[in-house]
Amino acid sequence: MSECIGLPEPPPRGAHALPAGTFAGQTVFVTGAGTGLGKAIAEEFARLGAAIVIASRKPEHLDAGRAAIEALGAPVTTVPCDIREPEQIAAAFDAADAAFGLPDVLVNNAAANFPVPAEDMSPNAWRTVVDITLNGTFFCAREFARRHLLASTPGSIVNVGASYAWTGGPGFAHSAAAKAGVKNMVETLAVEWGPYGIQVNGLVPGLFPHEDMTADIQGNLERTSDKDVVQPALRVGRLRELGWAATFLASPYARFVSGHTLVVDGANWQRRSLTNPPVVTVRDQMGKGPFAG
Ligand code: HXC
Ligand code: NAP
Repeated sequence: MSECIGLPEPPPRGAHALPAGTFAGQTVFVTGAGTGLGKAIAEEFARLGAAIVIASRKPEHLDAGRAAIEALGAPVTTVPCDIREPEQIAAAFDAADAAFGLPDVLVNNAAANFPVPAEDMSPNAWRTVVDITLNGTFFCAREFARRHLLASTPGSIVNVGASYAWTGGPGFAHSAAAKAGVKNMVETLAVEWGPYGIQVNGLVPGLFPHEDMTADIQGNLERTSDKDVVQPALRVGRLRELGWAATFLASPYARFVSGHTLVVDGANWQRRSLTNPPVVTVRDQMGKGPFAG
């Protein structure tokens, strides 16, 4: 008899696969690390000895990120920064450099997203998401690489993506297009900057619910009853699982991995049904009435 047991739970929070001190003496710059997945990623680097730089817009997020890293006893500094603004990114790297030296690792985690039927999306809504998720990611990568090229030092970039980069994302046309650009950028930059010692990889989370999710994303999730049974793994991701993957990609043990995007989603993005369920429009999924112009 084959029971549906789902994928096993990972080791507990606080465990790590890499040797203790793997990132000792290194600095890791994580955008959007005051909340959710960025905070979880920063914590795993901190557990392995890294000094952490957190860059994002909101003081309350920066404070929360700082507290999480300080609780682990690791060095941390926070920098207010809107990644849409290249000058603010340059200033944030100056602050990071002043605190701990040029960051060895950049995790481009910050992104923007909200569900909206494409026909309802305002031009500014589209621009805002593309500007933060795609342009912001490039501007941060560019700043990091230029500084390393000038210093002739190696570095590692991890860009956080989403699986609708490959499949399209109904209800998330802006974010899906931006994440497709982020995935494509990984492949280009890995080749351009490999000769200078800079690795560039992508990291795609599956569904990782957390308490910091925006009300828009949370509301979208709440329209489905149980998040576990809709995953082939029969469970959602645990935050530390994404953190472990990020630390591996940026570690000395993955030096020859570059231009790759690693998907950590229990195979959810490859899911197809034997029999197709009936099509439900994005409007209906979101409980919206007919399009009225
Ligand atoms: C339709 C919306 C909207 C919504 C904003 N807009 N929210 N349109 N539905 N729910 C429109 C606004 O009306 C405006 O257009 C434009 O978007 C810009 O909005 P602002 O509020 O002025 O922008 P800003 O203050 O820069 O804030 C950016 C933001 C915000 C993206 C709108 O939500 C934010 O700061 N998000 C950061 C956190 C985040 O998004 N996390 C999700 C990470 S991705 P008009 O035309 O009115 O001027 C993620 C992936 C999960 O979690 C995937 C699967 C679950
Ligand atoms: P989140 O908690 O909403 O985090 C987004 C972070 O981005 C926030 O900390 C925010 O900080 C920062 N940010 C947004 N706009 C910014 C800007 N203009 N400049 C600087 N920072 C900005 O979302 P999350 O779930 O942790 O998502 C993290 C990453 O995982 C994103 O790339 C997301 O697309 C990806 N992802 C998540 C899931 C999931 O299930 N959670 C699934 C697929 C992909 P401030 O508000 O302080 O600026």
